[in-house]
Amino acid sequence: MLVLDGKVVSKEVRESLVPRIQAFKEKSGRAPHLTVVIVGEDKASHVYVRNKKTACEALGMTSTIHALPASATQDELNEVLQRLNVDNHVDAILVQFPLPSHLSSDEVLKLVSPAKDADGLTYNSLGYFFAGRPFVSPCTPAGIMTILKHYKINVEGMRTVVVGRSNIVGKPMAHMLMEANATVTLCHSKTKNLSEYTRQADLVVVAAGRPHLLGKEDFKQGAIVIDVGMHGSGQGGKLMGDVRFEELKGWAQAASPVPGGVGPMTITTLLQNTCLLAEKRLGK
Ligand code: GUN
Repeated sequence: MLVLDGKVVSKEVRESLVPRIQAFKEKSGRAPHLTVVIVGEDKASHVYVRNKKTACEALGMTSTIHALPASATQDELNEVLQRLNVDNHVDAILVQFPLPSHLSSDEVLKLVSPAKDADGLTYNSLGYFFAGRPFVSPCTPAGIMTILKHYKINVEGMRTVVVGRSNIVGKPMAHMLMEANATVTLCHSKTKNLSEYTRQADLVVVAAGRPHLLGKEDFKQGAIVIDVGMHGSGQGGKLMGDVRFEELKGWAQAASPVPGGVGPMTITTLLQNTCLLAEKRLGK
């Protein structure tokens, strides 16, 4: 079984960004800049946000974390976003989700300037994306398409199944596979007899948000399996995916592990998006 190694692909993509960042610096006199806004004290979210900043800096980009207390009001959050929208030194803005429950992600997705939308999730960006005219694409599905390209897996004509229908992963993933000429079935938590669908698929992307939901018996022999799951409280505190990866050895054609599969590619795509947004702003 071919292991789809997100760390290897990440390294290659990140290296390809270095000369672009250098060129941007020479032209503009500064580095591309990502600002991440986080509200509240969720530990895992703070770790993700710090990882994003570190990844930016490792490539010579700059990043600031704008941390608001859990008590922040919608008006306070909106004010921060409005300021960042017009700040000339900020190329890309990412608001870390989930927000505390008293705050509206809807308002954020309407408010962040599409020209600075780092993960392509604002309604404006998604409109272009679903119309087939993407500029910045949602990070996780775009990262998965980059993995497939790296391993020369052409999905054209394939029978593919996406498990999960979130705006962040499932829906845009189904769209990207369709744009790449796959036949796509979108399954979700209300799908009856899920494995009837997944067992027929040449390629399955699992973004169900349920630890170890699927195993060998849910896939046909020779399938390609992409695991988007990330569950922190697995056995021994290890990160767990939605798929029982070990069972796939000797059965699947290819599969992405957790950790080390899709995860690194999400951040890598964020870096690509930040670079792209910075170049576009400079070009104006
Ligand atoms: N929280 C978990 N994943 C993501 C992501 O891809 N983007 C944002 N903005 N928040 C997240």
